[in-house]
Amino acid sequence: MAQYMPSREHEDGAEANQEVYQRFTNLVSSWPVSPGLSGFQIYRHESGWYTSLAPMVGAMVADACFTARPSDIVVATLPKSGTTWIKALLYSTMHRKEHPVDSGDHPFNSVSPHECVKFLEYQLYTASRIPDIGRLPDPRLFATHVPFVSLPRSVPGSGCKIVYVCRDPKDILVSQWKLSNKFRIRDGLEPLSVEAAADFFCDGLSPGGPYWDHVLGYWRAHMAHPERVLFFRYEDMIRDPAAHVSKLAEFVGRPFDAGEEDAGTVDAIVRLCSFENMTGLGATKEGKTELVVGAVENNWFFRRGMVGDWENHLPPETTRKIDAITHARFRDSGLHV
Ligand code: A3P
Repeated sequence: MAQYMPSREHEDGAEANQEVYQRFTNLVSSWPVSPGLSGFQIYRHESGWYTSLAPMVGAMVADACFTARPSDIVVATLPKSGTTWIKALLYSTMHRKEHPVDSGDHPFNSVSPHECVKFLEYQLYTASRIPDIGRLPDPRLFATHVPFVSLPRSVPGSGCKIVYVCRDPKDILVSQWKLSNKFRIRDGLEPLSVEAAADFFCDGLSPGGPYWDHVLGYWRAHMAHPERVLFFRYEDMIRDPAAHVSKLAEFVGRPFDAGEEDAGTVDAIVRLCSFENMTGLGATKEGKTELVVGAVENNWFFRRGMVGDWENHLPPETTRKIDAITHARFRDSGLHV
């Protein structure tokens, strides 16, 4: 990848670099494009995955410019897999000493987990800027929706840790369908029917899709390097959140000590980050998150927060089709969703 020369410093320390963004925008604009399960047109990356123009360009700029450190931790998910939840759990676990979870003035009271753990391609490498994240203290926490194959090359190269969450594709489909219709209605477009949304999803035409490639990419990385790639299932997290907080803390090298166990710190983190608690916070009820695809009301990241809501929305033939693809694609992988 050609080196870029940053040109101008913004007030927030970000470097403007029109040229590198323009170059990738031109490249992505030459790739196949189609409607998809999104409020936006969906482009096909040369390595076979899909997303809309701006986050794809952001992912490519991050690939060219982001320098990962071994101490970084990157949350990787498909949209609607529980990203907001795992960001909250990771941030509150990592920062539990400076921000005790029961203190009453935890950062989540005023800012969303998306401000605490930012997306590389939706929040940091956007608006022609090269963010000055070199000044951030260790350990730095980031997030991404890009597949393993298109992670910034310095991420696997640095040996930094990756936390992946996967979720039942049928629940992701319903959650993405509901969210994309919010964008579409906001932008004066017709909402998608659930059948049209399912067709897009099965064809891989959803942000970060195809779902099956995304999950398998991180699953294989986890199987090859379990000490570097943690692999959680949303459904398991719902079943036993405390066990997952403990595993997460161990994985990131911050296990809970006996005093914390006695003080109930794990349960306090689970409560703080629970759907019920997060939906009641002012930052969720009133705040917005600036993403490259537009400002999103923080309450859009919370809907039902349950396993199996697909049963209320998907026709039986759609369910059968998705289950058949999942069975065929995951059959020899050892992965069960
Ligand atoms: P539903 O639409 O099925 O309710 P993401 O954060 O990746 O955008 O995922 C959003 C999904 O996670 C939504 O699913 C949302 O309700 C659910 N979610 C958000 N916060 C959660 C929490 N604290 N616990 C469980 N689920 C949560």
